[in-house]
Amino acid sequence: MRIAIDSDDAGNELKRVIVEHLRTLGFEVDDLDLTSREKVDYPDVGHNLARKVAEKKYERGILICGTGLGMAMIANKVEGIYAGVCHDVYSAERLSKSNDAQILTMGARVVGPELAKSVVSAWVHSEFAGGGSTRKVARMRELEKVERQKSSTDRPKP
Ligand code: RB5
Repeated sequence: MRIAIDSDDAGNELKRVIVEHLRTLGFEVDDLDLTSREKVDYPDVGHNLARKVAEKKYERGILICGTGLGMAMIANKVEGIYAGVCHDVYSAERLSKSNDAQILTMGARVVGPELAKSVVSAWVHSEFAGGGSTRKVARMRELEKVERQKSSTDRPKP
């Protein structure tokens, strides 16, 4: 599994901890580190990573900001991307098993490094479980398409 990770300034320290943790677990992880090249905030950092996951350059992504909220919001704006904030192990497992989300977001001002490591471990070791969740996830994808079609027909003609 190829994993991309990135953070805004608020999440940089926790990101480093998580990169090391994932490598210790044997995962291939790329730190996109956008803020080291561009003066950007969480919307651009989250969008950059989510695009790469949408383009299948990575199977999964992890985004860290102060709360995890802004990163989840921007990642979910990218077509086909499902992202969720998790600060506990049970939710992190369900994020894969029930929701089939490709992106986990966390808040460095909310969780400490040890809990964050456990959250990440739970998520990377979980897969979509199918079963009753298949219909629900498929419905999310259908409704996403409906929304996209609606916004393209609502657009004013040039
Ligand atoms: C700081 O910019 C803070 O707003 C950000 O890290 C994040 O928590 C937003 O959701």
